[in-house]
Amino acid sequence: MPIPVILDCDPGTDDAVAIMLALASPELTVLAITVAGGNVGLNSTLPNTLALTALANSTVPVHAGADRPLIGQFVSEPRVHGADGLGGVVLPPGGSPTPGLAADVIRRILRDAAEPVTLIGIGPATNLALALTTEPTLTTKVKQIVLMSGAWAEGNVTPAAEFNAWSDPEGLAILLACGRPVVFATLELTAQALTTPARIATWRTRGNGRCLRAICDIQSTVPLSPRFSSLGAPLHDPCAVAWLIRPELFTARDCSVRMDLGPGPSRGRTLIDRWNRTGDPLNATVLETVDAVGLFELLGERLALLP
Ligand code: RIB
Ligand code: CA
Repeated sequence: MPIPVILDCDPGTDDAVAIMLALASPELTVLAITVAGGNVGLNSTLPNTLALTALANSTVPVHAGADRPLIGQFVSEPRVHGADGLGGVVLPPGGSPTPGLAADVIRRILRDAAEPVTLIGIGPATNLALALTTEPTLTTKVKQIVLMSGAWAEGNVTPAAEFNAWSDPEGLAILLACGRPVVFATLELTAQALTTPARIATWRTRGNGRCLRAICDIQSTVPLSPRFSSLGAPLHDPCAVAWLIRPELFTARDCSVRMDLGPGPSRGRTLIDRWNRTGDPLNATVLETVDAVGLFELLGERLALLP
C-alpha cells in the first residue's frame, strides 16, 4: 500500500529533485506539499513549488507556510541555489497555492487521516514543528518524521551546523521531542550522493520529458563543491524521499540526537551520539550509507516517468 506523506520543503535545487521523485513514485501518496522560506524567501520557494508541481501535471495541493523560523531572523542560502532558488532556470509559472496555512493544513490532514501519515521535512522544520506543537495529540497520527537535516560532524552553513537544522533549531528540537520516530539524512549521508556532470548526462539519456530536462538544467547550475574536489555537489533532499521508496539502498543506526540551542557559534548543531557515549535515549535513526549508483538509477528511472 502506498505510504501517505506530507512533504515540507524550501525549493531549492535539491528540493526540486525530491519533489519530482515523490510525485513520480507510486510507493508514496503525497497528500500535500507545504512550503517554508529557507534556501530563498517564501516569496520564491512558494512559486518554485507551484511551478514544479504544474510542470509535473500534479494536482497535489501546495500550501504556503512559515517565512521565518520560530525564533530569530530568516537567513537564505542563495550561494548554492541562486537568487531565485532554482539556479536561474525559469519554469512556466504554476497555479495559485491552495488556501490554508501549512501548519493548519498539516494538522487537518493528520486529524482526518484514516492511517498515520509520514512527515517528510527537507527544509527548516518550522511548519512541521508549528503543527505538532500547537496540537500535540496529533502525534498519534504521525507514523514517522523523515528529515534531510543535521550532521554528526562538519556543518555546511557554519562549521557546526547544517542549513536546515541551523535555520530553525528550536523547530527541529520540537520534532525530536514529539515522541515519534525521526529519521535523519545528514550531510554525511548526502555527501555520498554527489550529482556529477556525468550523472546529469546519464539522466538526460533517460528521456525527453520536460520535468527530466528541467531537473537536469537545474542541477547543472549547482556549483561543484570544493569540499568534494569539485567533482560534484551533494544531492541532499532526494535522499530523504528515496529512503521511504527504497530503504534497501541505505544503512542506518539508532542514535540519540540533541540540539544545540545556544546563542553561540555552535547554535543549530545536531549532537548525534553515534557511539552512545551519553547513554541518552536513542530518539532517532540516522542514515549512514547510501548506494549512490542505485539512488541515481532510481532518480533517472522516476524522472523519466514524468511529463
Ligand atoms: O543543508 C542542505 C539542506 O538545506 C537542503 O535541504 C537544502 O535544500 C537546504 O534546504
Ligand atoms: Ca531543502
